[in-house]
Amino acid sequence: MSRVEAVESAVSPSGQPDIGTPAVEATGLTKKYSSQVAVGGVSFAIPEGSFLSLLGPSGCGKTTTLRMLAGLERPDSGEIRIAGKVMSSSTSRTFVPPHKRRIGFVHQSYGLWPHMDVYRHLMYPLQQRKVTREERDRRVREVLAMVRLDALAERYPNELSGGQQQRVSLGRALVQDPDVLLLDEPLSNLDAALRGEMGVELRRLQRVSGSTAVYVTHDRLEALSLSDYLIVMSDGLVVEFGRPQDIYELPATEFSAQFVAGAVALPATVIAPDGDGFAVTVGESKLLVSQLRESTRSAAHRGGSMALAIRPDRIRVQKAGPSAQANTVSAAVTGVVYYGSHYDVDVEGHDFGHLMCRVQADQDERFAPGDAVQVVLPREDLVLVEKGKGGAEPEI
Ligand SMILES: Nc1ncnc2c1ncn2[C@@H]1O[C@H](COP(=O)(O)OP(=O)(O)OP(=O)(O)O)[C@@H](O)[C@H]1O
Ligand SMILES: [Mg+2]
Repeated sequence: MSRVEAVESAVSPSGQPDIGTPAVEATGLTKKYSSQVAVGGVSFAIPEGSFLSLLGPSGCGKTTTLRMLAGLERPDSGEIRIAGKVMSSSTSRTFVPPHKRRIGFVHQSYGLWPHMDVYRHLMYPLQQRKVTREERDRRVREVLAMVRLDALAERYPNELSGGQQQRVSLGRALVQDPDVLLLDEPLSNLDAALRGEMGVELRRLQRVSGSTAVYVTHDRLEALSLSDYLIVMSDGLVVEFGRPQDIYELPATEFSAQFVAGAVALPATVIAPDGDGFAVTVGESKLLVSQLRESTRSAAHRGGSMALAIRPDRIRVQKAGPSAQANTVSAAVTGVVYYGSHYDVDVEGHDFGHLMCRVQADQDERFAPGDAVQVVLPREDLVLVEKGKGGAEPEI
């Protein structure tokens, strides 16, 4: 995929209906710090009331993108529109400062003030906006109830749990009745159980408030469970933009297969079309694959170097026997790790290197390092994907 096509597909993911005037629209956003490109051309558009997650590894440009949307960083190039209004444009030299954008920002570290109680945290942004005293009080009480802190209004931050502090931070953003809620890894300081609970709560509050949310995370389960739309980012670029389920089930690239679906991948060479799918070789083994994203089809030409992605729990491992089944490769077990409900069995084949397979603990067969095995990769579970990050490799 060319850079232009990458941007076009990012602006309008496959199957997305006409979204009318987007609540948030970014076009070709870039930001450099001295010679380092932090964001190298990010484009997307999302409808009002939707929840978008920016998902990617550390340093890929998530926070920088969010800060540009907030007006806390000035883009080097590109344009940002909120509810159709230009907030920032490098061509028309427009730049609307943060306090004039209708946004609420929730920082990763909450950013609470030790000398202010919960009530005053929510009151403060309204005082800045010169809202009347009665209206302020009404609004603060309404949001305190919404974030379920009405009983704790007089507490100071050091008298609150992590989850309660997080709700103060969220309440402070919501009280301003923002059009867009920007959230930078707001759950990452919480323990796993609270994180799940607060994620559901966060989504409820965003729905009730009617605002559009842009949420930054490096946690794929958080992104999958919360979002209407997902942007997979790497090295300052959009690798993929779409619905979480679409990217999870039919990723276009090896990178998003691994990062979003937790899939493993094998290098494959395309031999020929086969029915709806393709025949490919992995080393000397011939395999059949049916599934691929429509936009990936042009990369799947004869002799094309691609990858086969599969989720580890869909792979079957069996002791090597005489009758070779379809879509099977030979390998040797190199490691076995027990996780209670399943084992992670690492295998190595001279055709493809290492592959991690997940074997349910109730499967009778047990494996040990050194075992010769056959690895079955069912045709219906394989997805033919572009290698690495696909054709939109960074030009930096
Ligand atoms: N103020 C700055 N000065 C110089 N470089 C910066 C600055 N802010 C960010 N960067 C660099 O830009 C790149 C993107 O940073 P950013 O904070 O956007 O990443 P991130 O995706 O939010 O990562 P993380 O998940 O670790 O928070 C990184 O390489 C970072 O070192
Ligand atoms: Mg960050």
